[in-house]
Amino acid sequence: MKQSGPARSPAHDPAGLGAPPRFASPDEAKAAVQAFDLRRLPAAYYANPYPYYHALREYDPVHRLPDGGYFLSRYADCVAVYKDAIAFSSDKKREFKPKYGDGLLYEHHTTSLVFNDPPLHTRVRRIIAGAFTPRAIADMERSVVRLVDDLIDAIAAKGSADLIADLAGAVPVEVIGNLLAVPREERGPLRAWSLAILGALEPVLTDEQRERGERAVAAFVAYLERLVADRRQHPGDPERDVLTRLIQGEQDGERLSERELLHNIIFILNAGHETTTNLIGNGLYALLEWPEEKARLIARPELIRTAVEEFLRFESSNQLGNRMTTRAVEIGGVAMPAGTFITIGIGAANRDPAEFADPDRLDVAREPNRHLAFGSGPHVCIGLNVARLEGRVAIERFLARFPDYRLAGPPVRGGRARFRGFLSIPVELGCRAR
Ligand code: HEM
Repeated sequence: MKQSGPARSPAHDPAGLGAPPRFASPDEAKAAVQAFDLRRLPAAYYANPYPYYHALREYDPVHRLPDGGYFLSRYADCVAVYKDAIAFSSDKKREFKPKYGDGLLYEHHTTSLVFNDPPLHTRVRRIIAGAFTPRAIADMERSVVRLVDDLIDAIAAKGSADLIADLAGAVPVEVIGNLLAVPREERGPLRAWSLAILGALEPVLTDEQRERGERAVAAFVAYLERLVADRRQHPGDPERDVLTRLIQGEQDGERLSERELLHNIIFILNAGHETTTNLIGNGLYALLEWPEEKARLIARPELIRTAVEEFLRFESSNQLGNRMTTRAVEIGGVAMPAGTFITIGIGAANRDPAEFADPDRLDVAREPNRHLAFGSGPHVCIGLNVARLEGRVAIERFLARFPDYRLAGPPVRGGRARFRGFLSIPVELGCRAR
């Protein structure tokens, strides 16, 4: 359904989510564009990046960054880059060298499928794709429902909740742990390792963040060496168990080296964590900001599928993507030589009025909704249907049980440019909580 008319004002704005999506004047917007540098982002950007994205799209859609790279904010440009994996490489060896040196973070991030081109990308993707079939995902639904209901029962018994600690942060680690059959009692450190390793992908890194990331890769590798040795002895069902699939490799085809194996397991375990936590947290928070949309979803629970797509578009968990040109190209009339770094503004593309009518309005029934939250092209998220399942079950069941939930204190934002979400969202459950 196409929407028209101005974006409605959100009910309240403790974390910047509902702040106006545009700068107050063209002069302010132009000044923000001129100063826009991913390495020196202003505090206001972390609270609410949308005025910056709109201003960039309007005044400088192919924006040259001070380091010589470009930031893209138009939907059509972002899609074109995603689709052309020959001209726009995902290989990060050159980009990450100055950032990580020769450390373990460098080894990890340059060995995972997401930051590689063929042949490594194709080999790994082919091996794991078979574990993400619609059938395999449908089979996961029952265990996700059970997990979410147990968490919701615990929340009901407590009488209040932190939406991140008690729900959004707790679901993905279990789901991804099940997918790789990681023993339940060993899942404790996974979330912290994952946050430290992905946190090291921020445009600018402190020494402390880098060291935390290095320690996390070392601990993760040491743990997985043991887990993989054990799984080699006792293989699981390769139709269900992604770890067994990766170990066994393609039938009659190539296998992964030990390093490739370990780093890609780490990537898969990480990829599904923070992003999915943010989908659930951002979705439940957006509903608080848009009470009419919340009421609409409660009245028509069958809208949950389009609502999840809208949460993914409206507050994309992953705001930035990256590529490097392999040859001279032209984007939006701007010529770039080979070796140019490009940042794909996923969050910006998802608010582009050329693709989405009334883009700053949350519309739980929005259709069509061809958002880029999962990327596009050959690297499109493999886990997208797992994430959709988790988002749908968690939000649907929480809303059905606690339709009157409301903020009990100020939420705390994660404060990151790439991964957009909350560290904490304290809520009261409201009078209809059972
Ligand atoms: C809301 C949740 C999620 C979001 C927003 C998300 C987002 C993305 C994006 C944008 C990419 C493309 C990266 C690029 O092209 O540079 C990607 C790739 C990937 N995602 Fe997700 N993801 C989510 C959940 C998951 C889950 C649950 C899993 C695993 C179970 C997963 C596994 C992967 C893998 C393996 C890739 C690499 C694919 C490739 O390079 O071919 N993701 N994801």
